[in-house]
Amino acid sequence: MTRIAIVIGSTRPGRRGTAVARWVEEAAGRHPAVKAGEATVEIVDVADFGLPLLDEAAPAAFGQYSNEHTKKWSEAIASYDGFVFVTPEYNRSVPGALKNAIDFLYNEWQNKAAGFVSYGVQGGVRAVEHLRLTLAEVKVADVATQVGLQIFTDFTFEDPTNPMDPGAVTPGPHQEPTLNKMLDEVFAWAGALKPLRETAAA
Ligand SMILES: Cc1cc2nc3c(=O)[nH]c(=O)nc-3n(C[C@H](O)[C@H](O)[C@H](O)COP(=O)(O)O)c2cc1C
Repeated sequence: MTRIAIVIGSTRPGRRGTAVARWVEEAAGRHPAVKAGEATVEIVDVADFGLPLLDEAAPAAFGQYSNEHTKKWSEAIASYDGFVFVTPEYNRSVPGALKNAIDFLYNEWQNKAAGFVSYGVQGGVRAVEHLRLTLAEVKVADVATQVGLQIFTDFTFEDPTNPMDPGAVTPGPHQEPTLNKMLDEVFAWAGALKPLRETAAA
């Protein structure tokens, strides 16, 4: 059984991230590997862990965590084989909350696979480019296929002039097949890297 976390990377009140993650979870539930019980996908919300700006004295690579919030975050991330990061684009990069949450840990990320569902005016693709660089440092294998939801075409708004209207996620018909292809890659790489995780744990 391959366990994949859908990590919500934005923490803003009224964020679109929750709805995007729910779409990913629902669509992933239709993937053959999930239906066959070979893989599970579940949402992990960075906002639920109450992480402050990094407040651990020792670098994460030492795994010597002094704070309860870090231990809880560590335990959660350690339990997965791979990730689908759901991230918006903030000023051409990922939200600070997501970068901070990644920085809190080290070994928990290693030798695992990741795919991306981004969103933004241009589909959030520039955030993913930055995220790929960060994940390289914590030894996450990032797959090529990615989903980029565009605010003006993959969401529907009741009142487009209201900045507080989060809109509904209404992805174009090509998005779910792309998500499935990305999940194929994440499931395959998460499985292929298992021997490395076992060696590291021994
Ligand atoms: C601080 C901030 C910076 C943003 N910068 C960009 C950007 O550089 N490019 C872009 O396409 N959208 C940008 N946006 C728009 C967001 O992609 C869009 O509002 C998205 O819904 C934010 O994710 P969230 O709702 O989960 O917080 C920005 C939004 C915020 C709040």
